Amino acid sequence: MTAHIIDGKASAATLRERVASHVSHLKQTYGITPGLAVVLVGEDPASQVYVRSKEKQTIEAGMNSYEHKLPAGTTAGELLALINQLNNDPQVHGILVQLPLPEHLDEMLMINAIALAKDVDGFHISNAGLLATGQKGMVPCTPLGCLMMLREHYGSLSGLNAVVIGRSNIVGKPMAQLLLRDNCSVTMVHSRTQNLAEIVSRADIVAAALGRPLFIQGEWIKPGATVIDVGINRIDQGDGIMRLVGDVDYEAAKNIAGAITPVPGGVGPMTIACLLANTVTACCRSHSFPEPAGLTA
Ligand code: GUN
Repeated sequence: MTAHIIDGKASAATLRERVASHVSHLKQTYGITPGLAVVLVGEDPASQVYVRSKEKQTIEAGMNSYEHKLPAGTTAGELLALINQLNNDPQVHGILVQLPLPEHLDEMLMINAIALAKDVDGFHISNAGLLATGQKGMVPCTPLGCLMMLREHYGSLSGLNAVVIGRSNIVGKPMAQLLLRDNCSVTMVHSRTQNLAEIVSRADIVAAALGRPLFIQGEWIKPGATVIDVGINRIDQGDGIMRLVGDVDYEAAKNIAGAITPVPGGVGPMTIACLLANTVTACCRSHSFPEPAGLTA
């Protein structure tokens, strides 16, 4: 049997509509427009594409987008000064510093300089700590999007066995925390784990985020399991054409899994939709407005 294809594009469109409708409510009721500041340092082509997409979707949702494009040679002092200015700007409810930064800039130093309440990426060390201790903070967008799709698919995740493949601060670790909070039994594995296939084969939920194209084999998947593929890898499969593939061998896994996210069109579209949702959440919290349902974990 072929797996149910989890349509990230459709889920993201629904979430963006919910965001836009709440933005309209905030404008009409309080005269407040949520604002997202995006900071891009240098000319990394992939980052430029992401940032353009974020700006476009922010404006489409009715929010204010503040763009700060700085030269690759920007000093740490100059970037810290901009972050400080945005921290103190009441029109700015969310701040995103696009990663990767040029090598001479310390990413963690910059992320931790963002005001906690405006850290819509959820990468600040204190937001990571709040998530790990089950307290309210800002949740990283990609794992938040994965969690929303899983909840939509299952209703309750309670008691399910989940395996998270990959241990990054941006996806793997917060994904594991979110699944734990939803009462899954969580196993974290990575590229050095022994018996990876055996561990994956016991999981009801497989969240793959290790950044290795087609690494997770179809036959490792438990029949009927749900596969969430966070990987976005550009590869040539021998025909000279560059294609986007995930970390999971989709063609094989889709015949075994019960449900699976495609690449592209799965997790990707949810990430930016969750960024917009986090910006609305940050705006509501900063003004002590009631928080709308369904925009965060
Ligand atoms: N670079 C690639 N993805 C992201 C993201 O989600 N946030 C930031 N800040 N940088 C990124």
